[in-house]
Amino acid sequence: MNPSMPALQHVAIIMDGNGRWAQARGLPRVAGHKQGAEAVERIVRAAKEAGINYLTLFAFSTENWKRPEEEVTGLMALLRQYLRSKTVEMHKNNVRLKIIGDRTRLSADILASIDNAETLTRDNDGITVLIALSYSGRWDITQAMQKIAAQNIAFGDITEELISAHLSTAGIPEPDLIIRTSGEQRVSNFLLWQGAYSEYFFTDVHWPDFDAGILALALQAYSQRDRRFGKLRVQAS
Ligand code: IPE
Ligand code: IPE
Ligand code: MG
Repeated sequence: MNPSMPALQHVAIIMDGNGRWAQARGLPRVAGHKQGAEAVERIVRAAKEAGINYLTLFAFSTENWKRPEEEVTGLMALLRQYLRSKTVEMHKNNVRLKIIGDRTRLSADILASIDNAETLTRDNDGITVLIALSYSGRWDITQAMQKIAAQNIAFGDITEELISAHLSTAGIPEPDLIIRTSGEQRVSNFLLWQGAYSEYFFTDVHWPDFDAGILALALQAYSQRDRRFGKLRVQAS
C-alpha cells in the first residue's frame, strides 16, 4: 500500500446516465432508473466492504423537478418503492440511512417512509448512506443561511464552521472523493460547499452498469492523488 495514501472516509457519487443506458437498449427512461436502483444496492454493499464510512448518493436534484411530469412521477414511484422494500434489508446490513434535501417538495407518504428509514437505522454503525433527494448545493447553502438568520446571530460570529454546522451534512466529514458516471464532467449543483477540496473521478460508464470493479478503480485513482489543500506537499499532512 502507498504509505502516503490520502485518508478516505466519505465518497459521494453523482449517479448519472440512467436515461442513456435505457436509450441504448431501446427501453423507456424509467427502465434505466429502475436498473439504477439495483446499482445502488450493489454499491452500498461494495462501499461497506471497502471500509468507506460515508457514502452520499445524488438521486434527484432540485433541477430535476423541471423534467417532464411523467419522468418525475416515475422517479418518485421508484423511490417510494425503494424506501419501502429496502429499508429493512439496509437495517439488517447495519446501514444508517439519512436523506438530505428539500423535504417541502416531497409527498407525505414519501416523507413518512423517510422518517421510518431514518428512525429504524439511526443507531447503525456499518456505513452511513446519505441519499440526496430534491437536493442542490445552492439549496443547502440557502437553507443554512436562513437557519442562521432566524437565530439573530451577530455577523461577526458567522464563521465557516457555523455555516458547515447548519448544512444538511452537519457533523459528517466532507467528501474526499466525488465520482460522476456517464461521461459528464460537471458538478450540476451537487455538494458545492462540502466539495471545496474533494477529488473528482469521472467514468464513461452509465450508472446502471456501475459495479464494485469500477468503484475499486476510482479508489485506486484516489489513492494516487496528492491532496495539498493549498499548502505545499511537505506541509500537507
Ligand atoms: C441520472 O440519470 C438520474 C437522475 C438525474 C434522476 P439521468 O436521468 O440524468 O440519465 P441521462 O443523463 O439522461 O442519461
Ligand atoms: C445530476 O444529473 C443529478 C443527479 C444525478 C441526481 P443531471 O442529469 O440532472 O445533470 P445535468 O442536467 O446533466 O447537469
Ligand atoms: Mg443526466
